[in-house]
Amino acid sequence: MTQLDIKFVRAQFPAFSEPSLQGQAFFENAGGSYTCQQVIDRLTRFYHQRKVQPYSAYEASRLGGEEMDEARTRLALMLGVDTDEVSFGPSTTQNTYVLAQAFRQWLKPGDAIVVTNQDHEANSGPWRRLADEGIEVREWTIDPETGHLDPGDLVDLLDESVRLVCFPHCSNVVGEINDVVAVTAIAHAAGAFVCVDGVSYAPHGLPNVGKLGADIYLFSAYKTYGPHQGIMVMRRELGMMLPNQGHYFNEASLYKRFTPAGPDHAQVAASAGMADYADALYSHHFSEAADETKRAEAVHDLMRAHEVKHLQPVLDYLSQKNSVRLVGPTQADSRAPTVAVELSGQAEPVAAELAPHGIMAGGGDFYAVRALEAMGIDPAKGVLRLSFVHYTSENEVSKLISVLDEVL
Ligand SMILES: Cc1ncc(COP(=O)(O)O)c(C=O)c1O
Repeated sequence: MTQLDIKFVRAQFPAFSEPSLQGQAFFENAGGSYTCQQVIDRLTRFYHQRKVQPYSAYEASRLGGEEMDEARTRLALMLGVDTDEVSFGPSTTQNTYVLAQAFRQWLKPGDAIVVTNQDHEANSGPWRRLADEGIEVREWTIDPETGHLDPGDLVDLLDESVRLVCFPHCSNVVGEINDVVAVTAIAHAAGAFVCVDGVSYAPHGLPNVGKLGADIYLFSAYKTYGPHQGIMVMRRELGMMLPNQGHYFNEASLYKRFTPAGPDHAQVAASAGMADYADALYSHHFSEAADETKRAEAVHDLMRAHEVKHLQPVLDYLSQKNSVRLVGPTQADSRAPTVAVELSGQAEPVAAELAPHGIMAGGGDFYAVRALEAMGIDPAKGVLRLSFVHYTSENEVSKLISVLDEVL
C-alpha cells in the first residue's frame, strides 16, 4: 500500500516552516489543526480581490460567489452527498443549536430522543434542553471503565416514540471510532433519524457520509485544515421536512434552511482549499484518474494508515505506565489518535510542564464533562490530551514519548 509522503504533507502547511514554531511538536490537534497553504491562499485572494457582496454580475462579485459555490460542490463530492445538502455555519455548536430549534418545533410532547454521555456538550446540551418542551430524553450511556458505547444498549432504548438518535462518530476524549453504519441502521430500523457529531473524526480523513447513512453529519473545518467554520451535512428528506429556520423566502434552498445568519463569505470560499489540499495529496501519491469521491476515499485511507502506525507506540507506552490511566481502546486501528490520560493529579499543570520540552498539548475537560464524570474522572482534575493527525511525523511521536517519560 502507498505510504504517506510526510515531507510533501508538511510542505503544504506554513506552520512547519514558521520560525516561531520551530522545535515545538503540536499535540493539541483535536482542539484545532494547522491550516494548509491552499486554504490560506484562497482566503488571502478573497480578501484582496473579492471582498464585495457576492453573486452580482460584476467580476469580483461573480468570482466570489463562484468560489463559495465551488466549496460546497467539491466538499459535497468528497462527502458523497448532493451540493445543497452541505451548509456552513459559524461553528458546530451553533449548527446543533439551530438544529435543536428546528426539532423543538417539529417534535410533539411524548416523542423521545436519544443522546449519549460520550459526546462533547455541543451534541448533547441543546438536545437535552428539549425536555423543557415535554420531549422525553433517553441517555445511551458508556461503559464506566472503557468509555465504550455499546450499540446493543441502544437497541434497548428504542421504541416507536424515538424520533432522533444523537451520537458521536468519535468522542474527543475516548477516541474510539463508533460504527456509524451499524448504529444508523439500528436507529433507522426503529424509525428514528440520526445526528452524528463528526468533529473528532473528520480531521483523520473526511468520511463518505452518503455511505455512512447518517441523516445529519457535523464537523468543524478549523480542525480539518480549513478556516473557522462549522460544516453540516443535512440529508434532503429530513432537511425539507423539518421547519425552516432561515428567511421564509429562502425555504426552498435546503442549504439555507438551518443557517439563519449571513455566511462568512471569505471563509466559505476558502473552504474549497480543503478540497485542493486533498487533491494535491491524491495526485502526489496516486497516478490513476479518479473522481472527487474516490480521491477523497483514497486520501482518507492514506491518512488513517499513517496515523494508526504512529499511534500504536503511544498507546503501548501509555498502557504499560502504571501511574496513568489511558482512556479508551489500546488498539490503534479502533480509535483516532486523540489520546486522553487521567493522571494522579490535575492535568493542566502537567500540560504546561510539557511546553518547555517542546510539546504543545492541553489539559482539562475538553467540554466532554459528562463523559469524564461517567468514567469516574473529576472534570476539575481533567485529563491530559495528546492528539495528532496525519501531518505529525515519526520523530515528533518519538519526542512525545521521551518527554512523557521524563515528565510523567
Ligand atoms: C467532538 C466535538 N464536537 C463538537 C465540538 C464543537 O465544535 P465547534 O467548536 O465548531 O463548536 C468540538 C470542539 O472541540 C468537539 O471536539
